[in-house]
Amino acid sequence: MEKLLIHKSGPLQGTVAIHGAKNAALPIVAACLLGDEPSIIENVPQVTDVLLMSEILRHLGATVDFSGDRLTVSPNGYAGTVAPYELVSRMRASICVLGPLLARQGKAQVSMPGGCVIGPRPVDLHLKGLQAMGATFSIEHGYIVGTANELRGAKIHLGGSFGSSVLATTNVMSAAAIADGVTVIEHAACEPEVVDLANFLIAMGARIEGHGSPVIRIEGVERLHGVRYRIIPDRIEAGTWMTATAILGGDLTIEGALADHLGAVIDKLCETTMAIDKLNGSLRVRRSRDPIRAVDVTTLPFPGFPTDLQAPMMALMARARGVSVLTERVYPERFMHIAELNRMGASITREGTSAIVKGVDRLSGAPVTAPDLRASAALVLAGLTAENQTEVGGVEHLDRGYQDFENELVRLGADIRRITAEERPDAALAFNVERDTGEER
Ligand code: EPZ
Repeated sequence: MEKLLIHKSGPLQGTVAIHGAKNAALPIVAACLLGDEPSIIENVPQVTDVLLMSEILRHLGATVDFSGDRLTVSPNGYAGTVAPYELVSRMRASICVLGPLLARQGKAQVSMPGGCVIGPRPVDLHLKGLQAMGATFSIEHGYIVGTANELRGAKIHLGGSFGSSVLATTNVMSAAAIADGVTVIEHAACEPEVVDLANFLIAMGARIEGHGSPVIRIEGVERLHGVRYRIIPDRIEAGTWMTATAILGGDLTIEGALADHLGAVIDKLCETTMAIDKLNGSLRVRRSRDPIRAVDVTTLPFPGFPTDLQAPMMALMARARGVSVLTERVYPERFMHIAELNRMGASITREGTSAIVKGVDRLSGAPVTAPDLRASAALVLAGLTAENQTEVGGVEHLDRGYQDFENELVRLGADIRRITAEERPDAALAFNVERDTGEER
């Protein structure tokens, strides 16, 4: 178990380059299982979620080579159909293999994803979509067991209680790419990562129209060939750097950030007084001398404000002037970070699916634990604006989705250091611990 030791830092000056999008890479790597030939995926982030997806593909019998930012999948006529608990329990996005396996192998056993700190994450829409195409499912010994002698095109409504589903859309679209006949997905997710998967499948020979809109039409083809494909830049990583600049101040150019993917984020940050210039292939983000103004934010499916930036936005609002209301419309329980931010002196209360954030003049460093991936980034950013030392545990969450985050921060002048659990934090913290345990007395 590792921790990050953080001291107050900033402003951020310079340039960062955005990596490929984790949430585009995961379904795309899984969709390589649909092809007859090897595919080469470029701009793949070196994060543990992608390493886990590679492990699952290897477990199924494919060969995966991942070096630098290039990941090559050779299906090799793989015969596996089981995504085991040991791997699925470490990453919910393992469900991405369900559609490709059913379409290609006629059966799939994927461990049922369990609970999650960001709230209930059912898979009913995934199953509903694939069932409409002819698959049958049972839950046996903790596994989703699916069979499909033949998948046929169908008209499928994929809207749920909280709107569209990103990975249910990618699962159905992947399966429909080689199903018999035409599939129409209504209430499809419109996220850029869904569009990226569609473009990848099209490059493999699939016939897909309407991706990026709520109605996607897929005409199944006999076979998909191998391709070389480049993943889109990670809009959530870009948004995290934008929020970091708002929190720490400075002037940061974010290379690879696509304004078209970040409209709601740009809009909100401009409301807080940030200056954002759209350059060719990058965004320049500056914080003026004015204090950050509190703004209300509601998370929504794309093109709304992304739920994955709610926690970093909360860290920003914790230091803003005024009161803001952050409302979750995608994951109503995604608020575990409130208690951790409050441990640092923030003033945040939860009311139903909203957090009421009263901006405070200062945060004070404390030991905190990241409950999930995006909360980990939020706590790091809060620590960089807090007095004295902050110690962030649960760093494995950060490693799931942010490549080189702390190294980039260090390069930009931030005071942040990773230690192993055995290493002692600095003297000040050690002193506090000793006092607490009575050793000083
Ligand atoms: C994707 O998860 C992302 N993960 C998540 O990013 C992201 O937060 C989420 O989309 C929303 O944008 C990947 O792409 C790997 P959903 P996904 O199905 O597809 C409900 C991160 O930090 N729902 O779009 O699993 C669900 O409970 C991660 O990078 C059903 O009701 O999310 C939620 O309320 C975390 N039934 C809403 O839909 C279902 O069958 C949207 O979830 C499926 C989902």
